[in-house]
Amino acid sequence: MTVYLNGEYLPESEARVSVLDRGFLFGDGVYEVVPVYGGRCLRLEEHLDRLERSLAAVRIEPPLDRAGWRDMLTRLLEHNPGEDRSVYLQVTRGVARRDHAFPADTSPTVFAMVNALTPPDPAVRETGVAAVTMPDTRWSRCDIKAITLLANILARQQAVEAGATEAILMRGGRATEGAASNLFVVGDGVIVTPPKDQSLLPGITRDLVVELAADHGIPLMEAPVTEADLRAAEEIWLTSSTKEILPVTRLDGVPVGDGRPGPVWARMMKHYQTYKQ
Ligand code: PDD
Repeated sequence: MTVYLNGEYLPESEARVSVLDRGFLFGDGVYEVVPVYGGRCLRLEEHLDRLERSLAAVRIEPPLDRAGWRDMLTRLLEHNPGEDRSVYLQVTRGVARRDHAFPADTSPTVFAMVNALTPPDPAVRETGVAAVTMPDTRWSRCDIKAITLLANILARQQAVEAGATEAILMRGGRATEGAASNLFVVGDGVIVTPPKDQSLLPGITRDLVVELAADHGIPLMEAPVTEADLRAAEEIWLTSSTKEILPVTRLDGVPVGDGRPGPVWARMMKHYQTYKQ
């Protein structure tokens, strides 16, 4: 695998980052995951918009401009040919003597790699997946796509140990999102997803689903999802660049609706598949 590191394209085994990198010491950085279908980055400009917002939020100067990001991704994908892939892209504040305050005159570390994109097995799409609810123990700027993911990792691990695929995080009586995905529920035939605020990541897949619903006249509301809404939902879905739109058919061990992926999901999934071609 060829990776990108600070302007160079290198075999992964030769890419080296200092132990003083603030990503390593503090988790001081931001990232993106961009899905690539048939050689084309899906919603690239939206991913780059979010990257720029994350960088601005943590006050890291953008190391590349738009044309620079596009060129780097094109070249990295050329180095790593394949079918469906995803690009992981990370920017940290750089290498400096350890001090919480920002270092002076440090340039960011920019790293990117390509991974195979393995959307869920068709069998999973037939049966759906299990999710479990748990308290959202993350910080209060979940809108920043920060590499600092300890609370997300602990939640996902707890879900996996409970035999589930994802954790649905609860804060103040409301569901925010999954450990690494956004949340949709269907109630009375209407799709509901929590509004974008600092309690959740503004997912690119989430926004695409909202857009596809509008384009195809499928009723959708951006509104809080209470615990009662979640438990009464006819359908629950999770979205992300790597999961696409995943139906949840068991919540905390209880079937969601009739326990099978629902008709609104099937309709939305068809539109998503057409869009990504
Ligand atoms: N995670 N919410 C969280 C907390 C996430 O980490 C992600 C994505 C999403 C969905 O965002 P998008 O649709 O833009 O992928 C929502 C990526 C895939 C990851 O960490 O690997």
